[in-house]
Amino acid sequence: NSTPTLFKPLKIRDVTFQNRIFMAPMCMFSCASSGPAIGSLTPYHLIHLGHPALKGASLVIIEATAVTPNGRISPNDSGLWDDLQIAGVKNVADAVHAVGGKLGIQLAHAGRKASTVAPWFGRQRGKGGVAEPEVGGWPDDVVGPSAIQWSETYCMPREMTKEDIRETIEAFADAARRAVKAGVDVIELHGAHGYLLSSFVSPLSNQRTDEYGGSFENRIRFNVEVIKAVREAIPPGMPLFYRITSTEWMEESDLAKELGSWDVEQSIRFAKLLAPLGVDLLDVSSGGNHVKQRIWPHSNYQVGIAGQIRRALKEAGQPLLVGAVGMITEADQAKEIVEGKEEAVMAKRLVEGPEPQADAILIGRQLLREPEWVLRVAFRLGVEVQWPLQFGFSGKFLKGS
Ligand code: FNR
Repeated sequence: NSTPTLFKPLKIRDVTFQNRIFMAPMCMFSCASSGPAIGSLTPYHLIHLGHPALKGASLVIIEATAVTPNGRISPNDSGLWDDLQIAGVKNVADAVHAVGGKLGIQLAHAGRKASTVAPWFGRQRGKGGVAEPEVGGWPDDVVGPSAIQWSETYCMPREMTKEDIRETIEAFADAARRAVKAGVDVIELHGAHGYLLSSFVSPLSNQRTDEYGGSFENRIRFNVEVIKAVREAIPPGMPLFYRITSTEWMEESDLAKELGSWDVEQSIRFAKLLAPLGVDLLDVSSGGNHVKQRIWPHSNYQVGIAGQIRRALKEAGQPLLVGAVGMITEADQAKEIVEGKEEAVMAKRLVEGPEPQADAILIGRQLLREPEWVLRVAFRLGVEVQWPLQFGFSGKFLKGS
């Protein structure tokens, strides 16, 4: 039929998404930093995630949620290291389900970028963003693959021992079990932006000499072990996503010429391993692992990389789905990403069909600005989507009341 692919349902394992528009995980730095509610989601999060779900985003993903207390970016992060934190996630899950959406959660460990204050406190305190103990920080308990600071204004991490690595893998699996108990539909692992998982794969941040550093196989080992442990901890029918830093945008730097850096080629090599490990969708982000990255954010700035990875996966016969994210703000842009460009469709329809760049799109800031963006896109593309029934008997969105 003529429904654009963007609005066709997408089934991953046992979960059917109503369309291919997901809300990207976004830290809100709005949880309690101490007391029994530490790290728990609040009514704020319920509205933040519930609103776009009500207005048609088929999946909304809870912000980076720390699997250990020292894996928080800031004292005000969401966490799931304790059973007490299950209730807050369950409240959000119940709300999102009540309006017909699906809920994901991004499990994360901030690694060497931990113990910073929420962005809006950073400059006020004038301490380069480090959260000191008096504001709930833990500058002496920040860990990473190696004792290499992200920048001079961040904490100096302690090199993780193998015991730390084992415990962290277990913490990821335990947090995933709690998320399942809370009723989430999707788990996403935060393998991007220079946080712990991402810092392990790059030779700029990982200079270990044991089996977790050095060669490509060694640098990805911790990630592979976390993926395996989480896949085993969740039901077989539950989708598992992985967010990657597809390039750390350091290729041109002298440092990378000397030490190497994580790039698209290695991302493709890594991506080809993921489907057999039980990952269903690769969420293609970039950057964040080095202060000297050369990044130029603009419309679709990461979408081409998603397309490149998707093509390589197809050529290799790998069934991993690909998600595109980053400055996707317009209806036609969104449609083209999952359907292929109009010219490509015209030119290749008879032989190969269009060339999509991704199977789904993730929207961050546009859904903050405009939680009903999905309805606007539907309207622009001429798709009839149902208003929530409770909004009245006004019929379909397209036809108006
Ligand atoms: C983010 N981003 C982000 N990414 C992630 O993987 N985990 C997170 O918790 C956050 N937190 C976060 C907070 C805020 C306020 C913003 C704006 C962004 C990145 C986000 O998911 C997305 O990848 C980027 O914002 C690019 O997409 P948009 O915003 O251009 O659609």
